[in-house]
Amino acid sequence: MNRILEAHFIAPEVKYFRVEAPKVARKRRAGQFVIIRVTGSGERIPLTIADADPEAGWIALIVQGVGKTTRTLNQLQAGDTLHDLAGPLGMPSEIHEYDTAVVVGGGVGTAIAYPTAVALADAGNDVIAIIGGRSREFVILEDEMRAVCTEVYPTTDDGSHGFHGFVTDKLAELIASNPRIDHVVAVGPVPMMHAVADVTRPHGIDTVVSLNPIMVDGTGMCGGCRVSVGGETRFACVDGPEFDAHLVDFELLARRNKTYGAFEHYRNEEFTASEHDRVNPPGSC
Ligand code: FAD
Ligand code: NAD
Ligand code: FES
Repeated sequence: MNRILEAHFIAPEVKYFRVEAPKVARKRRAGQFVIIRVTGSGERIPLTIADADPEAGWIALIVQGVGKTTRTLNQLQAGDTLHDLAGPLGMPSEIHEYDTAVVVGGGVGTAIAYPTAVALADAGNDVIAIIGGRSREFVILEDEMRAVCTEVYPTTDDGSHGFHGFVTDKLAELIASNPRIDHVVAVGPVPMMHAVADVTRPHGIDTVVSLNPIMVDGTGMCGGCRVSVGGETRFACVDGPEFDAHLVDFELLARRNKTYGAFEHYRNEEFTASEHDRVNPPGSC
């Protein structure tokens, strides 16, 4: 059991959790994740370690409620517990010296990109962040990014905050004006990561994406998270989750992520109905 020390929403359906996990906090490195179960009978879901304090013994998780498990998790409060938490899992981000690195976060992907931005900055790199959201309230961790990056560009699809357009539009603009950019890290929706790869490929800029296939065990045993990179099958949980963006088969990833779509939709609807009954019990007006 892992106790939740702090919990609050930072965007619509996106909640920040500080969770007691002393061993994970001591060992984790940027880019790694944990697999948690909210209840003993629930499914196991992967979540990136957004931050950690090894002395105080906590890790931070930032969770977007998209289906039954993440929506159940987002109902928990400080003082509640997670049934179990395993990690740190996956390969840490590779951190080298670059001329200028750009970290691109799309929506909740910014939470996954943030620890890598911190690690790149700690290694002495100039780091530019582009953090996008549908509108102002979906742009997360702007202050935190400003504390570690040399430049931060929020973007919104509707123009309600920062640059008006997709993160990829801002990235293309920056690449055109800054020849020092030689490394890009992108995390977010699959179509966004695909689009980032297409923007950087003609410039030969080294580009890394953090992939989000369906995961089950997180230890390389089940094959659930297999992805195709450079024509080879790789397991995102042990070989990744970060891979060379120019070698990833994004279409296959998008197709595989839809495998259980009908079932996920059914469980999500079931959850919505149970929530409705909880808030409006039979017999209430
Ligand atoms: P489901 O009912 O299982 O799915 C609901 C919707 O989410 C469906 O559209 C489905 O296609 C999609 N989905 C299912 N599994 C995934 C997945 N693995 N990745 C993306 N979409 C998925 N989410 C966060 O909010 N914060 C994080 O820090 C975070 N880190 C992740 C790190 C890794 C290495 C991976 C692989 C995924 C991460 N995710 C993160 C995604 C998160 O694991 C999924 O959103 C979660 O498993 C969905 O479970 P669910 O039961 O709530 O929804
Ligand atoms: P969203 O759909 O609101 O998109 C966020 C931003 O990404 C947009 O504002 C835009 O700037 C950019 N974007 C989206 N589609 C694009 C496209 N086709 N081309 C260029 N840029 C595009 O994001 P959300 O609702 O916060 O969802 C977050 C997504 O991140 C989910 O799809 C989820 O599956 C994914 N995710 C990824 C990981 C990972 O490890 N890679 C982990 C968790 C969630
Ligand atoms: Fe089972 Fe990666 S999640 S092999």
